[in-house]
Amino acid sequence: MSQGTSSNEYVIGHVTDNLSDKASEMTVVEYKKIGEGAFGTVVEAKLKFNDGRHNNHWLGPFAIKRVPAQTEYKSRELEILRVVNHPNIVSLRFFFDKESSNPKDKTLYQNLVMECLPSNLQNEIKYYKLSKFTIPYPHMKAYSFQLARAMLYLHGFGIAHRDIKPSNILVDPSTVTLKICDFGSAKKLESNQDSVSYICSRYYRAPELIIGCTRYTTQIDIWGLGCVIAEMFLGKPIFQGQEPDLQLKEITKLLGPPSKSFFFHNNENYRGNMYSAKTFTCTIEQRFKQIFANCPPDAIDLLMKILVYSPSERASPRRVLIHPFFQELKKNDFYVYPRGSDKPIRLNLFNFSEYELGLLGSLKDELLPTTT
Ligand SMILES: Nc1ncnc2c1ncn2[C@@H]1O[C@H](COP(=O)(O)OP(=O)(O)O)[C@@H](O)[C@H]1O
Ligand SMILES: [Mg+2]
Repeated sequence: MSQGTSSNEYVIGHVTDNLSDKASEMTVVEYKKIGEGAFGTVVEAKLKFNDGRHNNHWLGPFAIKRVPAQTEYKSRELEILRVVNHPNIVSLRFFFDKESSNPKDKTLYQNLVMECLPSNLQNEIKYYKLSKFTIPYPHMKAYSFQLARAMLYLHGFGIAHRDIKPSNILVDPSTVTLKICDFGSAKKLESNQDSVSYICSRYYRAPELIIGCTRYTTQIDIWGLGCVIAEMFLGKPIFQGQEPDLQLKEITKLLGPPSKSFFFHNNENYRGNMYSAKTFTCTIEQRFKQIFANCPPDAIDLLMKILVYSPSERASPRRVLIHPFFQELKKNDFYVYPRGSDKPIRLNLFNFSEYELGLLGSLKDELLPTTT
């Protein structure tokens, strides 16, 4: 199927509804390719129950992600998408297995039928960069807040996404809504269990992963959050290591050399370059102000609290959410103009569930908007 042209229709006997867990026969029409990643393809599609339900109406549009059902590399994507339910995480509607349409290819593919969003943050950043702007600040705040909220929720279950980057963050610019996608690398971390350190795309890899830590925490995603916020301001990735070994060097250009205790606590067997020579003479705060010239001071303060070597000193999701950078979102008269629209809209960013309020604990009073 080529981009945006021919469509592909087929019938599947067993399509499982994620909510009811019931399987039905459905017809699928795929009509547009919307993404191609390392492991599979994503197409836009509509589905219809074949038993006459919903008056034979097509449901959708959905995004169907297709990946080989069995590979050497263990994907927990379906497992995790089935248990999560959050406004800032892409939702799974149906799933089914299907053999390739190519008769020579006997591979079984897993198909995840998800809600479909029109864009991702990588496209948005690129769009504004081409027109020599950045994403408007109020939108950046709303996007960053929603991303941190998704992390509060996921990390509450001990789940690390492990591949936070702009192309794995779906957005709808017409509603300024954000949802994390691509749980192909996600994992529930257990404190007494090792996990691979060669995870996460290079530019967004937390320093502890770079030095080979295998007992990392969900705080690796918070590093990714910092990189994504920085990228919205800069219009390009903040740490662009040309090779895996040079990624840490890029980080030292902003944070200075990591301490000996950072290496000791995160991988005492690390034998790579420690980049212990300072490459700038000013303070780290001055360095942030140079690199994020023209950025509002509260944004710089937030980034300084997130882009921290030590995972335990790096801001937690709840600390991120109560940061003054997000104060404006709580105002009664806060609204945004969606891209290309002259009609302001209000956002529903504070509809926290009981579960989220529980995770916020004593900080919840600082977070909820006051009605005065
Ligand atoms: N639910 C969705 N709605 C719209 N686009 C999506 C959706 N899921 C994925 N995509 C698009 O497809 C791309 C690849 O999907 P992703 O899940 O990241 O797969 P991969 O594991 O191959 O990176 C994403 O970057 C995004 O642009
Ligand atoms: Mg991806």
